[in-house]
Amino acid sequence: MCSIIGYYGDGLAAPILVKGLKRMEYRGYDSVGVATETGNEISVKKGVGKVSEVNNALHLDAMLGNVGIGHTRWATHGNVTDANAHPHPSSSGKIAIVHNGIIDNYGELKSDLEKRGYVFKSQTDSEVIANLLQFNFDEVHDIKSAMMRTVSKLKGHYAFVAMFQNGTLAAARYHEPLIVGIGKNGYFMSSDVLGFIEKTDDAIYLDNGELVVLDQVGIHIFNFEGIPVKHQITKVSKEFADVYKGDYAHFTLKEISEQPETVIQAGEKSKAAIDSVTDVLKHAKNIYITGSGTSYNAALVAKYLWQKYAKIKAEPIISSEVFFAPDTIEPNSILVAVSQSGESADVLEAVNIAKKSNSKILAIVNTLTSSLAQESSLVIGMNCGPEIGVAATKSFTAQLSIIYKITEKLCDGCIKLDSRKISESIAKILEDHSKIKEIAKELREISDIYILGRGVHYPIAAESALKLKELTYIHAEGIPGGELKHGPLALMDSSVYVIIINPNDFTYNDTLTSAREIKARGAKIIGISDKPSDVYDHWIEIPAIDEALYPLIEIIPIQLLAYYAAIEKDTDPDYPRNLAKSVTVK
Ligand code: G6P
Repeated sequence: MCSIIGYYGDGLAAPILVKGLKRMEYRGYDSVGVATETGNEISVKKGVGKVSEVNNALHLDAMLGNVGIGHTRWATHGNVTDANAHPHPSSSGKIAIVHNGIIDNYGELKSDLEKRGYVFKSQTDSEVIANLLQFNFDEVHDIKSAMMRTVSKLKGHYAFVAMFQNGTLAAARYHEPLIVGIGKNGYFMSSDVLGFIEKTDDAIYLDNGELVVLDQVGIHIFNFEGIPVKHQITKVSKEFADVYKGDYAHFTLKEISEQPETVIQAGEKSKAAIDSVTDVLKHAKNIYITGSGTSYNAALVAKYLWQKYAKIKAEPIISSEVFFAPDTIEPNSILVAVSQSGESADVLEAVNIAKKSNSKILAIVNTLTSSLAQESSLVIGMNCGPEIGVAATKSFTAQLSIIYKITEKLCDGCIKLDSRKISESIAKILEDHSKIKEIAKELREISDIYILGRGVHYPIAAESALKLKELTYIHAEGIPGGELKHGPLALMDSSVYVIIINPNDFTYNDTLTSAREIKARGAKIIGISDKPSDVYDHWIEIPAIDEALYPLIEIIPIQLLAYYAAIEKDTDPDYPRNLAKSVTVK
């Protein structure tokens, strides 16, 4: 999603803003812009492309001024054009804003302002904030009151930072993240601590419904009714600063390669929370487990494991579906919410709905300062470090590791998660990429790929399809093995590739039979297994491990395959088109 950033201090604002935007580019990235203030004048530069491209073309970082705002956009309202990029100045150019979120009632606000003579230059919902704020400021001549009047009219989810002609910054948060950074020589306002972590690790996490005014006197925080609010300063973990690719060509490859360590670290700092969660689950009447994208696939694995090994039922629900079937969640239940970012709007909405019916929220989350962590009564930290590549990789295996740890406790040790052994097995798969690179070349021209798995391997097939879609733009579909004959078999011919997830466990023989049925129709077979077979055109070997634990390792070769196929297709694996790492709008 979009990132917003503001700086007010002694340094030159533009280079600081551009650097901050680069670090947050993972949130959204179709266009970029910066506005600064010098001598009571606001200048704006913006354009379509990545931060470095737009910066090279427009020299954003050479803009003058000690106050500024910046933005990376992921289009929701209006095409990807220079005019729709942020910052948006008001009609008079005396205020400029950057915005993350959606203003639901922008249509009526816009026509009202147009009637009053305000001119709109973009198709965005965001521009209405600039003009509404200008209208209110011209009425009351006071920044705080103008902000209060403005937020009282806005409907939707938003965080925005406004820069006034006199160099004052003002910001508001309502269901989109906004964090204040307090540096020695300046203040920051940013969607993510990554926006300012190089400059300071002192942060204030604003709550929903709060306003900030930053001027020569200092920083003032109010609620939407104008009452001053006091906040603790939080020390942000320095590990967030570790967002460089190092020697890796892409963040995605770096993050795939970190998994031998991250599966060990997962949940390590949350041992007490894992115990408490297990206890709560053992005594719960109804358990639901929710997430979006990859996190939902991890939720599906939890359903299989808890049912099979602990005889505990958990109903998985796709977070974005909860709103449309809110009664699915019985009152006084437990909702386990899984999310890397802890900021996915769909997950937060599901949590909100569950809380209204008095359910307890348990979170498995990577970002411990996120909205989800704040909304939950028990929080297990994935502890896998920042994940920048849009396609989730190390966060998925961290989620699975935690789910396994909970399973182990739920079933009183009937399965054992030997993290060291898992780590070694993953390291073994990662040792040599050459075979996977060769197979990736064959995927360059294909348009359809299917992934088959039975039982607990079906969620891994679904996650594999998601990785292939996100990174290669090839149509990919995960199929529960037995469903093949109920439809998908009609699609099998020599143009198709099928990945068979077939470790040597109780699903092995049935899945091998499916592979033979597919092969008979001419499709090419890639087998992921610890056991070779003549049916595979390509065999990707995984180490033999305890049969309960295969899901933790069998996804690794498919992550690599998706990565290398993206390289073959010359797509950007870190920033797939049209996608964002953290989808903070509905
Ligand atoms: C977006 C990302 C996916 C991710 C999903 C859930 O759609 O592109 O990669 O799996 O959000 O994100 P979360 O942070 O809630 O796990």
